[in-house]
Amino acid sequence: MLLKINRLRVYFKSADGLVVATDGVDLQLCPGEILGLVGETGSGKTVLGLAITCLLPKTAVASGEVLYRGQNLLALPEDEMRKVRGRQVAMIFQNPSSSLNPALSIGEQIAEVLREHRGLKRKEARQRAGELLELTGIPAKWIHSYPHELSGGMRQRAMITIGLACAPSLFIADEPTKGLDVTIQAQVVELLHAVTKGADPQRSMLLITHDLGVAAALTDRLAVMYAGKIIEQGPTVEVFRNPRHPYTRALLNSHPSNGLMAVQGFSPSLINLPPGCSFHPRCQKARKRCTQDPPSAKRMGSDHEVRCFNA
Ligand SMILES: Nc1ncnc2c1ncn2[C@@H]1O[C@H](COP(=O)(O)OP(=O)(O)OP(=O)(O)O)[C@@H](O)[C@H]1O
Ligand SMILES: [Mg+2]
Repeated sequence: MLLKINRLRVYFKSADGLVVATDGVDLQLCPGEILGLVGETGSGKTVLGLAITCLLPKTAVASGEVLYRGQNLLALPEDEMRKVRGRQVAMIFQNPSSSLNPALSIGEQIAEVLREHRGLKRKEARQRAGELLELTGIPAKWIHSYPHELSGGMRQRAMITIGLACAPSLFIADEPTKGLDVTIQAQVVELLHAVTKGADPQRSMLLITHDLGVAAALTDRLAVMYAGKIIEQGPTVEVFRNPRHPYTRALLNSHPSNGLMAVQGFSPSLINLPPGCSFHPRCQKARKRCTQDPPSAKRMGSDHEVRCFNA
C-alpha cells in the first residue's frame, strides 16, 4: 500500500462554528493506481489533497492518519515533510495562475525544483528542464517564457511538468482540466495518462475533478465525496455501471451525456450538517433512520463500499 488514510478529520474554526471539511475519511491507494475523487463544490476534495501534502492553512486542525509507505505524514516535522514533498509526493493546485511564480520563467521554475530536491547543478538542471518540457508537449524554446505568456492549456502543462520534475511516486492533481476548452482538456488528460501509467507503472495519482468524463477516462478507482465524507468508493467501472449511493446516482445523472439533470436541492453548510446521513434532505429514498443515524461504510463487493442504509 502506498497511501493509507485513516479517519482523517480536518476542521476550521469560524465565527459561526466548526467547519468540518473532511470527516472520518478512509482511503487507500496502491502503487500504480489512479484514484479519482469527485463531488460537488465545497465537499472537501481540495482540503483532503492539502492534508496529504501537509499544506493545510495554519488555521486548519487535522486528526487521524495519513500513512505514506507506513509513515504518518501528519506527525512528521516540517523539515522532514519538505523532503517528502517534491521528491515523493507532489501536488498541483486548482489554480495554475496563482501557483506558478509570475516573476520566473517556466524553465527557471522547473530548474529550481530540480536543484532543490534532486541536487542538480545549475547547468544540468536547465538542460533537464528543457527535456521535461518536451516530454510534456511544450516546445523547449518556450523554456524562457513567463507564465503570463502561455495559454491556459500550456500553463496547465507547465504545472504538470513542475509537479513531475522530481519524479514523485504519488502525484496529486487538483482539477487539472478545469477551465480548459474541450480539445485542450483531452490533451491534458492524455498527458496525465502518459506521465503516470505511460512513464512509470508504479506511479500513483490522486485525481481531484468535477468532471466525471475525465474521471471515467483516467481513473482505476473512484471515491465520491459528499459534505466531507466518502460516501461511495470502488473500481471506476463498477461505480459507473452500478452506482449504489443515491448521491452517486444523482451525480452520474447530472453528467451532460446523461442529460444534465442537476442534483436536486442545495449542498449543505458544513457548519450545521443535518443529523443522520448528511444527504438525507436531498434524498428521495430517505427513511426515518436516515434522519437519525449516520450510516457507516458497508461493503458491497470485494472492493466497493457505500455509506447508505438503503444500498
Ligand atoms: N482556509 C479555510 N478556512 C475556512 N474554511 C475553509 C478553508 N479552506 C476550505 N474551507 C472550507 O472547507 C470546505 C471544503 O473546501 P474544499 O476547498 O476542500 O472544497 P472542494 O471540494 O475542493 O470544492 P471545489 O470543487 O469548489 O474545489 C468548504 O466548506 C470550505 O469553505
Ligand atoms: Mg477544490
